[in-house]
Amino acid sequence: MKILSLLLIFINTTSLLLGDSPHPVEALSVVHAEQKIHLVKTDESDLLHYSSSFPVYRIRNDSDSDVLLTENQILLSPGEECEMGEFPLLDIECQTAGEEIHLHLEGVDLGIAQNEAQLVYPQYEWKLSHKGYTKSPFVSEDIWGKVQPYLLPLDHPAKSFLDKVCSKRRILESDDALKKAGFLFRPNSTRTGMIVARHMEMWGYLIKTHLDTKDVQNRDASIWMHRVDGANLIRECIKAHGYEHLLKTPRKWLYPVPPDSTSGRYRQNFMLVVEDMHILEHSKNKDAFKKKMNIEKMDALVTVMKECRLNDCVYVFNIPFSHDGRIAFVDTEHFNIKSRPIKFFKLTPYFSSKMQKHWKKLTD
Ligand SMILES: Nc1ncnc2c1ncn2[C@@H]1O[C@H](COP(=O)(O)OP(=O)(O)O)[C@@H](O)[C@H]1O
Ligand SMILES: [Mg+2]
Repeated sequence: MKILSLLLIFINTTSLLLGDSPHPVEALSVVHAEQKIHLVKTDESDLLHYSSSFPVYRIRNDSDSDVLLTENQILLSPGEECEMGEFPLLDIECQTAGEEIHLHLEGVDLGIAQNEAQLVYPQYEWKLSHKGYTKSPFVSEDIWGKVQPYLLPLDHPAKSFLDKVCSKRRILESDDALKKAGFLFRPNSTRTGMIVARHMEMWGYLIKTHLDTKDVQNRDASIWMHRVDGANLIRECIKAHGYEHLLKTPRKWLYPVPPDSTSGRYRQNFMLVVEDMHILEHSKNKDAFKKKMNIEKMDALVTVMKECRLNDCVYVFNIPFSHDGRIAFVDTEHFNIKSRPIKFFKLTPYFSSKMQKHWKKLTD
């Protein structure tokens, strides 16, 4: 690849406190970062590159020409903006037919220099709300009793934020309502119609939810409790083997969505809150499976998959590498599946030829 040369003419970073709440006490002290960047082509190379000092969640094209974000193949016309969904960007690679690129970046200021190797959780001072949960009239006593051990703790940082955002509008009414509430996600990005969304004021956590337009036959509580059980089983297994430096799985909780008369046809009463595993974007993840998998990690992976009977973890997007180098079990829906063999062979092509041999030895 040609050596890239670019001129960074103008960078302007501003930080401001987020939170439009009329009650400042409830606002979270998360710092919003914005940056305007101007990249200019200085030779024949048409790939421009910029390393951001903060994770970028939203990008607007302020140039006169189209800009292609090469990593995710998103084409932005002049004035258009896009949200990065599951993969906030640190390295921005783009192309344009024009001579220069003006981009407006938005993200979360972590207050520390970032690079891909060390994405860490910021030490935010969350304002905690200890307000308890009230049972919605649409939830049965039986379900309400069952969900109690699974609920997002009252002093959890995400709780006060979700209470605030859900009290303003029915966020699960539609794609649009969720977007208006400031959540970032790609509609229809999952197989099951579930939405995985993040919010800049809830850094470090994601929500997984269905919208009120999706018929889950009133099973939302059990769907999410099952995923919590799966994550707990995997975490215990990782711990029992002392694999914490190689593997991880998010902690997960149920959040009871406050009822609202405007909710659509299939009211969702619960959503899932999970720890953000800071996973690698698809192509980088595939690359990591080839280059970063070693004997120690592979042995650990197979042990956990076999012991917990994780049939759906034979797909690289369900067990992605994360920025800290560990493999993250993010999809915890299918576990203890004894009726079907695990199709280990599906993962084989993703490894280097040396590691393919080891994989076959472990799984044949
Ligand atoms: N805890 C998490 N941290 C980071 N990304 C996640 C997390 N959970 C899910 N994702 C992203 O969302 C995608 C879909 O989530 P998943 O639980 O696998 O849903 P599904 O059951 O629909 O396959 C994952 O492949 C991953 O890209
Ligand atoms: Mg999945």
